[in-house]
Amino acid sequence: MIKIVYDIKIYREVLKDIIKTDDVVVELGCHVGKSTEIIANLSPQGKIISLDKSPESLGAMEALMEKHSQLEFMEGDVRLHETLEDVAKKIERCDILSVDLGGGYHPDTTFKVFFIWSSTLKPRDTIIRNRGLLDFVQSSSTQEIMESKRGWLESSGDDGIPKRLKELKMWSTRL
Ligand SMILES: C[S@@+](CC[C@H](N)C(=O)[O-])C[C@H]1O[C@@H](n2cnc3c(N)ncnc32)[C@H](O)[C@@H]1O
Repeated sequence: MIKIVYDIKIYREVLKDIIKTDDVVVELGCHVGKSTEIIANLSPQGKIISLDKSPESLGAMEALMEKHSQLEFMEGDVRLHETLEDVAKKIERCDILSVDLGGGYHPDTTFKVFFIWSSTLKPRDTIIRNRGLLDFVQSSSTQEIMESKRGWLESSGDDGIPKRLKELKMWSTRL
């Protein structure tokens, strides 16, 4: 299942609906860990890898790691190939991919991060917090049916891995 939300409260409610006690969760954009704490409480027997590139994250996430041994924080830019490669090496499966780079953040970048990460990690469920993507999904229509049951786009198969990951290196660091 792929869920798109904008409201942070709904984002956290959806996390509560979809995360199971032994889930492996990859959280992109954890900031100071407010949703990470919710995730950690929902998945005490699982594994959580939370990432952010903000200098504000480290101290708060270190404090959270003391409380939750299944949590690992990684400082990094999720647009970079190396970051995804590092995470992919640490986990054998991914149950939940959560993407919150900021609700109003560039929908194009958010979609690309979702696409590359989800088609590599093949999560059971994905949740994306982004206003532009929510607007796009609700404002568009089609007469064709194409649907993915899991947290990645099955119509694209393995398109996200691995040689195309190189294109992430070309992204502007200002985006
Ligand atoms: C709205 S905050 C996340 C809030 C958090 N999910 C929560 O529920 O409290 C968005 C975060 O995404 C991070 N972010 C944005 N672009 C990023 C990138 N390319 N790589 C890593 N982190 C990024 C920002 O540093 C920021 O901390």
